[in-house]
Amino acid sequence: MSAVASAPGKVILVGEHFVVENEPAIAVAINLRARVRATKVEGEGVEVRSRELGLAQVFRGDEPRSSPLYPVYFAAKVTMENIGVESPLRVEVFSDIPPASGMGSSAAVAVATVAAVAKALRVKLVEDEISRLAYRAEEIVHGKPSGIDNTISTYGGAIAYRKTEGFLRLEADFSPVRLVLADSGLPRSTGEMVARVRRLKAKYPRVFEPLYHAAGRLAIEAGKAIEAGNFRALGELMNVNHGLLSAIGVSNEVLERLVYRAREAGALGAKITGAGGGGFIVALCEKGSEERVAKALREVSSRVFVVDVSGEGVRYEE
Ligand code: PMV
Repeated sequence: MSAVASAPGKVILVGEHFVVENEPAIAVAINLRARVRATKVEGEGVEVRSRELGLAQVFRGDEPRSSPLYPVYFAAKVTMENIGVESPLRVEVFSDIPPASGMGSSAAVAVATVAAVAKALRVKLVEDEISRLAYRAEEIVHGKPSGIDNTISTYGGAIAYRKTEGFLRLEADFSPVRLVLADSGLPRSTGEMVARVRRLKAKYPRVFEPLYHAAGRLAIEAGKAIEAGNFRALGELMNVNHGLLSAIGVSNEVLERLVYRAREAGALGAKITGAGGGGFIVALCEKGSEERVAKALREVSSRVFVVDVSGEGVRYEE
């Protein structure tokens, strides 16, 4: 028995980092997806294969967690434990989402793995369970993630997310805009960036508190702008959000250059997306202006993607 599931990557439009301390953030699913095929096999263990990484490994439970394929194995394992059915498996991963980009590739792979493994073992999980089990696999990769990635990848569309309250779906029509993402080319670790922000915040709590409060207000305003289809306001708020991210120490010269280039080329707004320190920036563009923005960014970035917001979360495929 074999089953295929897919799940989308994401872009955080506002609120990354602040979301870790329970401020609201807004994320959207995008039209780049991870696909996972899970197949019941003879033999033992869980064989994980990744087309993009060109790697394959059989896991039996005592392997070091350092393998890049370990989180996929772990997602399969927690799923089997949860549904109470164990079987030797082959899990194959195919993903359009660039890894370590802030576009939620690990969460999308985890979400698709949970759904595919359960279905291959003839159990249909509801979205809530898929998201929760994917979160457990995300903990292996990121330490203590906020949970925004597995949530948006499971449900799709646009969500406002708050750690202690879960998420709210935003009624949004993103058809007038596209997102342009550009890579700084600098590697970054989400865990390290989160720890770095924590240290600075602990050192200057009275300075950071109003910044966090402002970021929370900003996310609420951004949510209203999205629901009203006011993308000009959303762009402005994304610019302000970028300023707050610079203030808490996650920007650098390369990211600033990309952000300003996107704005000068006509983006409605541009900011770091995700953990910062490296990774990608996102530019919100009115349809028709995205190519101009992408062209300007390609002059200074080796990887530029133009993507659309996608309503679709996790789904089973034939
Ligand atoms: O860059 P990413 O996609 O790993 O996003 C990190 C987002 C943070 O808010 C910095 C961390 C989190 O767990 O939400």
